[in-house]
Parts: sequence; C-alpha cells; structure tokens
Amino acid sequence: MPTALITGSTAGIGAAFARQLAARGHNLVLVARDAERLRRQADDLHDRHRIEVEVLPADLTEDEGIEKTAARLRDQTHPVDLLVNNAGFGLKGRYLEVSMADELRMLKLHCETVLRLTSAATEAMRTRGRGSVVNVASVAAFVPRGTYGASKAYVVQFTQGAARDLTGTGVHLMALCPGFVRTEFHERAGMGTTNIPHWMWLDADNLVKEALNDLKKGKTLSVPDPRYKALLTATRLIPRSLLGRVSSGAGRKYGPK
Ligand SMILES: NC(=O)c1ccc[n+]([C@@H]2O[C@H](COP(=O)([O-])OP(=O)(O)OC[C@H]3O[C@@H](n4cnc5c(N)ncnc54)[C@H](OP(=O)(O)O)[C@@H]3O)[C@@H](O)[C@H]2O)c1
Repeated sequence: MPTALITGSTAGIGAAFARQLAARGHNLVLVARDAERLRRQADDLHDRHRIEVEVLPADLTEDEGIEKTAARLRDQTHPVDLLVNNAGFGLKGRYLEVSMADELRMLKLHCETVLRLTSAATEAMRTRGRGSVVNVASVAAFVPRGTYGASKAYVVQFTQGAARDLTGTGVHLMALCPGFVRTEFHERAGMGTTNIPHWMWLDADNLVKEALNDLKKGKTLSVPDPRYKALLTATRLIPRSLLGRVSSGAGRKYGPK
C-alpha cells in the first residue's frame, strides 16, 4: 500500500486529499497543529477505509515542526510515496496593514517549509526511483496580490523548476492552483466572502479529484475547473495595470478599518 503525507490535513483542501487518498487505499501521515483534531480524523479514516493512519502534530511555521516532518519524509524504512504540501493561510489586510511578523510567518510556511519538505521527500524518492509531490499554490500566483500571491508564485516557479531538474529520476512534482474554495481559509483569516460571486466558488472534493487526475497524467501545473482555466488565459491577455486593479479587489473583503 502506498503512503501519503499531507500537511494541513484537518480542514478544507487537505481534508479532501486525506478522504480521497484513503478511499484509494493509501496509508496516511497527517500533519497539522491541532493534535486532538488530527487524532479524530485519523480514527475516522482508519475506521472507514481500514488503512494505517499516523498523526504528526507540528507547527510548520517553526523549525522544530518542519524538521520533525522532514525526518518522517526521509525515513526510508517507512517510505512516503506522495507528499502533499498543503498547509497555508491568508492574512486580513492590504500591504502595510499586516504586521511584518505575520508576513514573515506566511513566507516561512508557504515558501521555506515547502522547499524544506519537498527536498526531504524528493531526495528519498530519488533514491527509490519513484514518488510524487503536490505543492498547493493558488491562482493568486498569477496576479499581483501582496505577499500571499507572491508566496504562491514562488510555489509554482519552484515546483515546475524542480520537476524539470528531476526529469528521468522517477520523481514527479506538480503545483496545484485552486481558485476560491469553500474551506475554513477565509473565516480563519477573518475575511468576508460576500463579495465573491457564487460562480467563482469551487468544491474541495471536486478540486482534489481533478488534481489527482492531473497528477496521474504527469502534469506539473494543475488548474482545476474550466472557469479558472479561462480566467488564467484572460490574465495573459489583459494589461498588467488593469489586472492589478481587478485582482487586488477580488475576494479581499476586510470590513471596516
Ligand atoms: N480556500 C481557498 O480559497 C484557497 C484558494 C487557493 C489556494 N488555497 C491554498 O490551499 C491550501 C489549503 O487551504 P484551505 O483553504 O484548505 O485552508 P483551511 O481550511 O484553513 O485549512 C488549513 C489547514 O492547514 C493547517 N495549518 C495551518 N497553519 C498551519 C501550520 N502553521 N502548521 C501546520 N498546519 C497548519 C490547519 O490545521 P491547524 O490549524 O490544526 O494547524 C488546517 O488543517 C493553502 O495553502 C491555501 O493557501 C486555498
């Protein structure tokens, strides 16, 4: 049975990866900060699918949590076949309204953690001659959108570059770029969502199903859903200044100052 390690497994997109990979017969290693919630999720997935589930409580904005998770990925006696770097968060506020500490925490989780965990996983996978990594970015990677968009642009560029460098090793990497997905993301960041049109919302399970199909096809970039594929094509055609004006407003409902 293959094993998948998912960061940010307890909610939203990560939980959808956990459900679908469990249903496909993967054993799981689940990573998030809330140990109690991880334990409940592990028991539920084990009971439903008769798979082995490990829990690894870790704060991936801290070196200790990153290193603990990296050590699990390097363990060749219990190999991890698929890594899903999914843990992430949003910040409420425009540039200079968000504290520097929060901006740096975001860069640590979205960039440094993704780099360190991908490297730990792919080194072990390269030795075995097989394995896959899905790094969850965002369509925000393609539009001017503060530190969040910039950090997700890093995820896309890094993942596609590393995928190219590892061609022929049996190790495959894919960046996943969701649009707006109904999860805990916006509520956790304290962002309103009433200004996001209904048609722009995606379902996490549909998103993950399409992402896993794209991974199977060997894609290095997955943009699930035709609506977002069309929007991304449009971003390449319209002037950057107009793009910035439209994208910096979309989905950023921060309420009264
Ligand atoms: N929802 C969207 O509209 C959307 C769109 C595009 C991209 N994305 C990306 O998709 C990914 C998942 O987002 P989501 O919408 O599913 O978010 P979510 O529902 O808020 O879930 C976030 C998950 O990450 C974990 N997490 C957060 N901070 C962590 C930390 N420091 N260390 C370890 N685990 C941490 C959370 O558990 P704990 O709190 O227990 O740690 C939770 O399991 C993120 O990378 C996000 O940027 C989301």
